[in-house]
Amino acid sequence: MKIINDNHIISNIDDIKIVDNFFTEECLQALKYRMLFCKYFDKKYDGYYAIDYFPNQDYLTDLIVNEIQPKFNLPKFNRGWSFVYTENKDGVNVHCDPSIINMNVWVSSDESVLDQNKNGLDIYRLLPPNNWERKDWNNNASKSLQYIREMKISPTKINYKSNRAIFFNGAYFHKTNQVSMKKGYENMRISYTLLFGQNLEKNSNDK
Ligand SMILES: [Fe+2]
Repeated sequence: MKIINDNHIISNIDDIKIVDNFFTEECLQALKYRMLFCKYFDKKYDGYYAIDYFPNQDYLTDLIVNEIQPKFNLPKFNRGWSFVYTENKDGVNVHCDPSIINMNVWVSSDESVLDQNKNGLDIYRLLPPNNWERKDWNNNASKSLQYIREMKISPTKINYKSNRAIFFNGAYFHKTNQVSMKKGYENMRISYTLLFGQNLEKNSNDK
């Protein structure tokens, strides 16, 4: 299966790269329907569920990594996941990931979106202080937001678009700009994320 489209539309906002029309239709639909048909999940969060993908564990993820790694000059692939958002809630709270590059792709359809001003990604171009531990930068949204406010950093807001890939420093603070999808099973918001390179902590395989 061919993974990546040839006719990408690439735009850059500072050091954030946005690539539209990213996956081939075949790959996009595979990523979408395998999550819609999922009955088992690795993790359940407030309003969304996750399936994890580690190297050599998921055939489709290995195909994707092998094709995009040389093309976008990405460091070592560490882990990935798909999320399916079952409810219109806040989505993923503000946090940092221990990666040099995150690739986030929206897999659900544009027609499934209810509120066009939501569902995007807010990226704060700010790294956590050196003395913070993982529990702070990955799992303490109120402390993170307080630090962002102190540093007076406003988010770079990336609008939701189906089949839009966003490459950014995963160690930047980032969060979902709330979830608002139409009712119906096939309209659930689905995202696909890959983490490349180690950042913030050594030898971490954690999200
Ligand atoms: Fe993240």
